[in-house]
Amino acid sequence: MYSIPRALAHTIAAVLLSWMFFMAGCTSFSHLTRITPDGHDGPQAIHCGACHIQQYQEWQGTAHARAFSSKSFQEATDTPEEDGCLRCHSPLGIHKGEAKARSFHRDEGINCISCHLSQGKMHGPHKSSALFSPHPIEQDPFYLTPALCATCHEETYSQWKKVSAGQKIRSCQQCHQCSKQCCVTQGTNLFSNVLVSFEKKVQACNHTITLDMMANFPNGVNITALALNKGKEAPTLSINIHNNLPHDLPTGTFGKKEIQLSLLFMKGDLQVTEKKLLVSDERKALTAGESKKIIFPLTPEESRADTLRLQLERYSTNDPERPPIVLSSKIIAAIHEAFH
Ligand code: HEC
Ligand code: HEC
Ligand code: HEC
Ligand code: HEC
Ligand code: HEC
Repeated sequence: MYSIPRALAHTIAAVLLSWMFFMAGCTSFSHLTRITPDGHDGPQAIHCGACHIQQYQEWQGTAHARAFSSKSFQEATDTPEEDGCLRCHSPLGIHKGEAKARSFHRDEGINCISCHLSQGKMHGPHKSSALFSPHPIEQDPFYLTPALCATCHEETYSQWKKVSAGQKIRSCQQCHQCSKQCCVTQGTNLFSNVLVSFEKKVQACNHTITLDMMANFPNGVNITALALNKGKEAPTLSINIHNNLPHDLPTGTFGKKEIQLSLLFMKGDLQVTEKKLLVSDERKALTAGESKKIIFPLTPEESRADTLRLQLERYSTNDPERPPIVLSSKIIAAIHEAFH
């Protein structure tokens, strides 16, 4: 923390600002909002990352950042230049009339300006409290609503809308961009620290919009298991999987995705068996609020196991290198006691 008195900080900032404008001219930040008249060049994410360090680091490596460059997208079409795909996979903007293919830095997929730049201004959820801002800012409530995500996630949004009918449920952002208290920009030196010290802390969001963040999401998908036929004959497990999410599991029909239930039986430190069952996929998803019951007959060895680990995993079948994401898990101790 910098404990410079406010008045002194003000003076330092004013002096530094005048000096900076004098040195660089007032147009030095115009590149942040400028798209060349031919539409072939404009701001890049790294430009924004100079001040919005956290947001940049979080966005890097997300599926949004890879929406154009990913192997699966490149392979899905021979003509990735098609406007039809790029209005969602590498868009210029998301506001009315701007959801069209971007013709520069396409490899950045859905980048900062896709979601934030419109009509020469940076649109965001907050009212600006900065002493100085290098680009015009417009507060826009659109950023807090699922309507923003709906620009591209049309199906998922319609699933969410059906669940939200008549009741207040969490927005996409509230689950996928868990919020934290911080400043909108982060200082890196004395000058930027002074500038940032004037900004009010806001309820900022996380830009790591990725499935990995959703692993073991509390109360997202529940697994329960019940022992049937407790005698020695035909020991069976009745497993129930309940989708508590306000959208399908999995949601969206682009790309291949599978939800599998893994059952790992252990006796002491030894693995007895491991089995994987398909629960749902993009063609036949589990809708919001829906349950699926799986009747699983056990072999005699399995019914004598010590522990059973049940795990619900999400696989990307078109990206085998992506590790599965564990959505929910459960350990059942002393499984043999339930049957013998
Ligand atoms: C030189 C530093 C700097 C650079 C570079 C910069 N910004 Fe900003 N940005 C700011 C400051 C300062 C604010 C105002 C913060 C405040 O009011 O608390 C701001 C505010 C914003 C907001 C509004 C945030 C809100 O809370 O609603 C958005 C959105 C935004 N910037 C996006 C961008 C994007 C996209 C880029 C790159 C094209 C970019 N910025 C580049 C300094 C910068
Ligand atoms: C400009 C279009 C666009 C907007 C706006 C958008 N998305 Fe996406 N989103 C995509 C595309 C395209 C993908 C798939 C990218 C890929 O896998 O190559 C994706 C992927 C995702 C994924 C899967 C991530 C993963 O790790 O596989 C989640 C979750 C997601 N988006 C949530 C959101 C949320 C929440 C919002 C609103 C805050 C949002 N998206 C806004 C286009 C968009
Ligand atoms: C209650 C919290 C919650 C809300 C609200 C929510 N999601 Fe999700 N979402 C999750 C969880 C947990 C997962 C991981 C399970 C899965 O893959 O389906 C997920 C998965 C996803 C995926 C990845 C699906 C896949 O398997 O490829 C996308 C895309 C997505 N959500 C988009 C959205 C959009 C868009 C909205 C708003 C319309 C939204 N979500 C609202 C919790 C939520
Ligand atoms: C898929 C759309 C999307 C992309 C891509 C995106 N943002 Fe955001 N951004 C949002 C949304 C939605 C919010 C508001 C969420 C909330 O507050 O619940 C937001 C909030 C912000 C804010 C306000 C402060 C905060 O952290 O909440 C800043 C600054 C910002 N984004 C900068 C950036 C920068 C810089 C990049 C690129 C590195 C970027 N954003 C990429 C959708 C996006
Ligand atoms: C309306 C917006 C939109 C359009 C148009 C669109 N996509 Fe997508 N695409 C998405 C979203 C959103 C996802 C994330 C997964 C989902 O919701 O099914 C996605 C995911 C994908 C994926 C899966 C990526 C992965 O690794 O999981 C591929 C491949 C893909 N799209 C190819 C295409 C192709 C090819 C076109 C053009 C013919 C296209 N998309 C047009 C929105 C769009």
